[in-house]
Amino acid sequence: MTIAESPVTPTAFSEPSSTPLALLLLGRGSDPESERGVDCPGELPPASDPDLVARALAAKATLGSRVFVLGHHYQRDEVIQFADVTGDSFKLAREAAARPEAEFIVFCGVHFMAESADILTSDSQTVVLPDLAAGCSMADMASDQQVREAWAALEAAGVAADTIPVTYMNSSAAIKGFTGEHGGLVCTSSNAERALRWAFEQGTKVFFLPDEHLGRNTAVRELGLTLEDCVLYNPWKPNGGLTVEQLRNAKVILWRGHCSVHGRFSPENVDDVRARIPGINVLVHPECTYEVVEKADYVGSTEYIIRMLDQAPAGSAWAIGTELNLVRRVAAAHPDKRVVFLEKTVCYCSTMNRIDLPHLVHQLEALVRGDVINQIHVDPIVAAHARTALERMLALP
Ligand code: 13P
Ligand code: SF4
Repeated sequence: MTIAESPVTPTAFSEPSSTPLALLLLGRGSDPESERGVDCPGELPPASDPDLVARALAAKATLGSRVFVLGHHYQRDEVIQFADVTGDSFKLAREAAARPEAEFIVFCGVHFMAESADILTSDSQTVVLPDLAAGCSMADMASDQQVREAWAALEAAGVAADTIPVTYMNSSAAIKGFTGEHGGLVCTSSNAERALRWAFEQGTKVFFLPDEHLGRNTAVRELGLTLEDCVLYNPWKPNGGLTVEQLRNAKVILWRGHCSVHGRFSPENVDDVRARIPGINVLVHPECTYEVVEKADYVGSTEYIIRMLDQAPAGSAWAIGTELNLVRRVAAAHPDKRVVFLEKTVCYCSTMNRIDLPHLVHQLEALVRGDVINQIHVDPIVAAHARTALERMLALP
């Protein structure tokens, strides 16, 4: 059966049954070791307030062109409706850099994205993140100190001089700064191939941080390297758990880090959905494991996933392996196509979900009062190096 012939169930997407996965909704707390900040000052409006939408609209109207709201594709519906622009992390970085007239950038996304926006905007602009605890567990898997220790191990092995660090956007400003300082660049899921090709024009090895899966998927599937060309550096082991010879022979040194959301998808999920829905297209984000990506039909960033569904013929069927807020919205936008979630259980990004309507209202109303809360401000020296790495990415052909 061809895809066009496969049966279509209008608005086929249904909410998977919930799991005991804890979602961090309105919590507060403190995690000074994390790449993100903590705590939200003042009293949040209750989530039950029936006027939240009206309050957000009124605050945004009062602020007018002084405020620009960016929304990542994984944000909740209740938040994304207030975004002036939505996008993947690459598009949002470009949009932030292209808004010099906005006094306030409200970043509805996670901490590393807001940091990048702060780095790419001028000193007279203020970037805020409506909940400072909206971090990214993957970004937290590479601390500045760990990465500098790893670099020292590369130096001791005599390979650092030929190695170009490439960091995924999902990393702290400090890691981006390290990368810029050492001749490397930032990449996102939509330009990782071009970034790696650029890096291999500058050196003979790449040190890829902090997502081993994006690094491996890009190196092997896009650049034609072998799995054996890649080694995994485990920051919790002496010398990364690697011998000097392994470091010398490797073409790509992958940091041992991953996304806990995309790590839930398995090759069995792909087999299972293909058995249940013959002819289905499997479309996944490149943060999924190599084994999952190898079994999928299409791989790409959140923006790519949206574009693919926009272009797909009516009647086609799609299993999507990425965060649930996005999959639900894509399904709702395409009632003429069958859209299912690749895994059967809930798969929200709990930190993306921390930005909810009460936090957004709280943020916007504070700005109306003249209170700048939840500001993201990157240390100027770190920012200077990180800007170099980000600008190398933005300049990629
Ligand atoms: P995109 O760059 O594809 O939006 O991905 C960001 C992200 O955090 C995915 O987990
Ligand atoms: Fe980080 Fe994964 Fe959430 Fe993306 S989906 S922000 S990589 S934890």
